[in-house]
Amino acid sequence: MIVSTNQLFRVAYGRFAVGAYNINNMEQALGLFEGNKLSEAPFIVQLSKGARKYANVLMIEGIIRAAQEIYPEAIFAVHLDHGDEETAYDCIDSGFYSSVMIDASHLPFADNIAATRRVVERAHAKGISVEAELGMLGGVEEHIQVDEKHAMLTDPNEAAEFVLHSGCDSLAVAIGTSHGAYKFKGQQSLHFDRLAQIQTRLPGFPLVMHGSSSVPRDEVERINAAGGALDPSARGVNEDEFATAVPLGVTKVNIDTDGRLVWTRVHREFFRDLPAKFDFRDPGKIYVAEYAKFIAHKNQKLNSAGRLAEVRAALAG
Ligand code: G3H
Ligand code: 13P
Ligand code: ZN
Repeated sequence: MIVSTNQLFRVAYGRFAVGAYNINNMEQALGLFEGNKLSEAPFIVQLSKGARKYANVLMIEGIIRAAQEIYPEAIFAVHLDHGDEETAYDCIDSGFYSSVMIDASHLPFADNIAATRRVVERAHAKGISVEAELGMLGGVEEHIQVDEKHAMLTDPNEAAEFVLHSGCDSLAVAIGTSHGAYKFKGQQSLHFDRLAQIQTRLPGFPLVMHGSSSVPRDEVERINAAGGALDPSARGVNEDEFATAVPLGVTKVNIDTDGRLVWTRVHREFFRDLPAKFDFRDPGKIYVAEYAKFIAHKNQKLNSAGRLAEVRAALAG
């Protein structure tokens, strides 16, 4: 059942984070829905502009519609990830999305507010909620490359002003994460002090953590042992830190890169070990099962596992 993102946030706030997983194809969709079934978790399936272009919007949305029928017990929201205004309007008008993200974080503060406000007005008229972003994560966002020097943590006072004037329903904050596989050099932690300051100014308001893949070291090692050439110093978010972030208002956690690593590991190992094989369904089946296992594990860390019954009750009541 597709539900509103705000409904999920109301149940989750302060107690668990809803996993927001990017998908691009049928195998990811099957693994995602299976993993959430295994762990009895509500979730958000999110599509980037790149995913909508890669798979064709009709195809990828059709896959989600089909998954909903295959998994009738699933409770999830459909979300546009890192949208620009044009794509946000397209998704709002389509009627298929629970929520859209307008990412105007690269614009000056006032322009970011203005763009977000425009999207909010159109989205709210249709009962769709809006995620915005303030501050700059490092790494790669669509076509924008942000180097570490220019990555800026979200200013708590600005965050409060931004939410007040833009009317957004949730806010992606920069608290030390970045997109992609190379987030941290050496041991590093999230900026919980900054997160706490933001929560103090925005009590009860859902905050979103982008760039939240954990980039497991053994996954990188297995990929490289099977012919990959990833930087072995690749580090992500310590997934045990989600438990600290959740009471501080983090209600949605975005994960994409880790799913790509599972795909790469499964396929590299498969073809290394069975070089005579060429039926893509063989590694595909392994990938679906491994991705499902990954999702179920991640939902444990987000504390969203086992929440399906209470979410269903909250939706009914
Ligand atoms: O934040 C970016 C997401 O990981 C989406 O990546 O634009 O390559 O689909 P993509
Ligand atoms: P990762 O690159 O850490 O998976 O982040 C994904 C993301 O933030 C999608 O919006
Ligand atoms: Zn992101």
